[in-house]
Amino acid sequence: MATLLAIETSCDDTSVAVYRDGTVLSNVVSSQTQHNQFGGVFPELASRQHNKNITQVTEWALQKSEIRKQELDAVACTQGPGLLGSLMVGIAFAKAMALSFGIPIIGVNHIEGHLISPFIDTNPTFPYLCLTVSGGHTELVLVKKGFIPTCLGGTMDDAVGEAFDKIAKLMGLAYPGGPEIDKYAKIGNPKTFSFPCYKGKNLNFSFSGVKTSVRYFLEKQLKENPQFMEEHKENLCASIQFCLVETLIEKLELAIDETGVQTIAIAGGVCANSYLRKRSAELAKQRNLTLQLPKFEYCTDNAAMIAQVAY
Ligand code: KG4
Ligand code: ZN
Repeated sequence: MATLLAIETSCDDTSVAVYRDGTVLSNVVSSQTQHNQFGGVFPELASRQHNKNITQVTEWALQKSEIRKQELDAVACTQGPGLLGSLMVGIAFAKAMALSFGIPIIGVNHIEGHLISPFIDTNPTFPYLCLTVSGGHTELVLVKKGFIPTCLGGTMDDAVGEAFDKIAKLMGLAYPGGPEIDKYAKIGNPKTFSFPCYKGKNLNFSFSGVKTSVRYFLEKQLKENPQFMEEHKENLCASIQFCLVETLIEKLELAIDETGVQTIAIAGGVCANSYLRKRSAELAKQRNLTLQLPKFEYCTDNAAMIAQVAY
């Protein structure tokens, strides 16, 4: 029997999970809303908030799991990639816990956490192809038996979540922009406007061009009609979301053809996007593949995925 406490502080979410033998007993996430006013994560503020939150979040995670600190066999923590100051808060806290209880510390790669997140509470079927889409990453990864990842392609500039956030900012929507665009897109027509997306026949992505084209498009429209944004918000969101998600789906299909996998998975914050979930389900059905999506609470940054990798 192994009981772990896992800590994730790579960006702006302070998260602690307690995990025992393949089961998540608790997964507490404290999201920092203080960054919203800046339209992006303010690194120094993020580390200070982690420092403020981490003791309380750990206490809550332990209380919820009904595990006493003395029962822990190891402490896991995200060791990178991420914001340096934020990572250091989690690592220092994990080291202190490990030292004071005389138990080992296990450093975990954040992206490996996202890669395993669709399989929390279930057994992974290897090999699987994972599209990892977050605010910092857009990657196609083939994961082989023994949890051995090979990156097949990635973004050459912005991550797709970053594209959602930056375009939302251009539109004057709140941060983070992904969920905002998703919300308005639900009642918009995706065919209203057309934006150019990178369609190179390889497994790499590029999203900076869409962002620029939306900027020029909005500048032009707003000059002619200052009410343009308000009048077309839903259709704009639906059209932008269509362009970003269809690019992801196209590349995912290419990777399926190249690898011949039977199982596909999607992970990371953007995986919470309703249109991406719908389109990936359609793709899996059409190609007769198994699709594994993380539960909503495991899409964005969380410590349960860090615990699962450590386990
Ligand atoms: O995985 P995550 O929590 O943090 C990183 O490791 O980056 O991902 C955060 C990203 C943000 O860019 C956010 O806008 C995006 O995930 N996101 C979404 C949705 N929910 C979160 N993007 C599109 N649609 C959503 N529903
Ligand atoms: Zn992440």
